[in-house]
Amino acid sequence: MKIGIDKIGFYSPHVYVDMEKLAEARGVEPAKFTIGIGQSQMAIAPITQDSVTLAANAALQIIDEEDREKIDFVIFCSESGIDHSKSGGVYVHQLLGLNPHARAVELKQACYAATAGIQMAKGHIALNPESKVLVLGTDIARYGLNTPGESTQGAGAVAMIISANPHVMELEQHNVYLTNDIMDFWRPIYSDKAFVDGKFSNEQYILFFNKVWEVYKEKSGLELKDMEAICYHLPYTKMGLKALRTVLDEASEEVQERLLKNYQTSTIYNRNVGNIYTGSLYLSLLSLLENADLEDGSRIGMFSYGSGAVGEFFTGVLQLNYRDYLIKESHQQLFNKREEVTVEKYEEIFEDVLPADGSDIELDISKDPATICLSGVVDNKRQYVNKNR
Ligand code: COA
Repeated sequence: MKIGIDKIGFYSPHVYVDMEKLAEARGVEPAKFTIGIGQSQMAIAPITQDSVTLAANAALQIIDEEDREKIDFVIFCSESGIDHSKSGGVYVHQLLGLNPHARAVELKQACYAATAGIQMAKGHIALNPESKVLVLGTDIARYGLNTPGESTQGAGAVAMIISANPHVMELEQHNVYLTNDIMDFWRPIYSDKAFVDGKFSNEQYILFFNKVWEVYKEKSGLELKDMEAICYHLPYTKMGLKALRTVLDEASEEVQERLLKNYQTSTIYNRNVGNIYTGSLYLSLLSLLENADLEDGSRIGMFSYGSGAVGEFFTGVLQLNYRDYLIKESHQQLFNKREEVTVEKYEEIFEDVLPADGSDIELDISKDPATICLSGVVDNKRQYVNKNR
């Protein structure tokens, strides 16, 4: 039985800052951000969006009535969770009006969690072929104003439905994974901003990629030439390129050119959104599928990395007429409708956070065009609104 991604949708908030303008404001050469880091625009989450609303808005792009009935497992993957106890998946389940006979949980392992989510979903479908699983990778990347990580922030979510006989991409076997306890990036529970050892993190990312790729080749018997493209977790778009370059000489010039060209296509969306942590690898896949026009049957390599750290390499095969099941137009509209804000406004939005002591607050959701918004906090409970219900 084939199991894989049946639908894939994406959401990012309606405001962004231009990276050249951010560079100027920080006294940095704009080319450092646009070429050295590889980012053009950075999505910013207003106070009315959190990991729950981003995930729910992404899922709204793809689910229909049949999905609402058949989804019996919601896997919410995030490192920007809103509660130490209650899963973000429970809120999303309610906001989308899913069948009550469903499981809802939250998974965490930095940017890797959504990969664990889709693999867990695959196991669930193998046992329950009639059901569907909703996997959400949703995050707000915050390093802080004027920090080295600032240029690699972002906000957004990817929602995927995993099912039997998927329309978009079958998930293949031979996954290779690796865990090692390192401190390259972490966020202690008392901090709303991440701590990162950026250079060490870059090194470890590449090391993990090299290690899983070596074992993958032995286990699967496949090589670079068997991949039409490789998608990477993209904390910033230069990162995957650095990893890809370390193995390119294993392939002919023709294959190298193909992989480099498809790599660039796989970074278009990420370049204009920034890091969305758990969703970044899947945003890159979406960027590739919606902009590259690959043939049915193409094999895509996927490298997932979550600091701390866990890495995984796996592959997927594009299904017959997969293009008919993508929603490129609605993603284009989402990008077209976004509004640029000045660096001053971005800083204001960044600093506008919920009261840390849990006091009540009412938020103005009239300026947020998203269907699902956070409207406030009452008695320590976040209040969510689905404007369509
Ligand atoms: N034109 C073109 N490129 C330029 C440039 C210019 N004017 N100025 C600098 N650059 C290049 C540098 O050569 C470097 O390229 P390289 O990495 O290919 O060598 C790149 O821009 C970044 O410059 P660097 O000085 O290394 O930047 P930095 O010290 O400010 O830190 C990060 C960059 C990525 C380490 C930092 O943003 C960070 O820590 N981000 C978070 C990392 C992360 O997300 N890790 C977690 C998960 S994987």
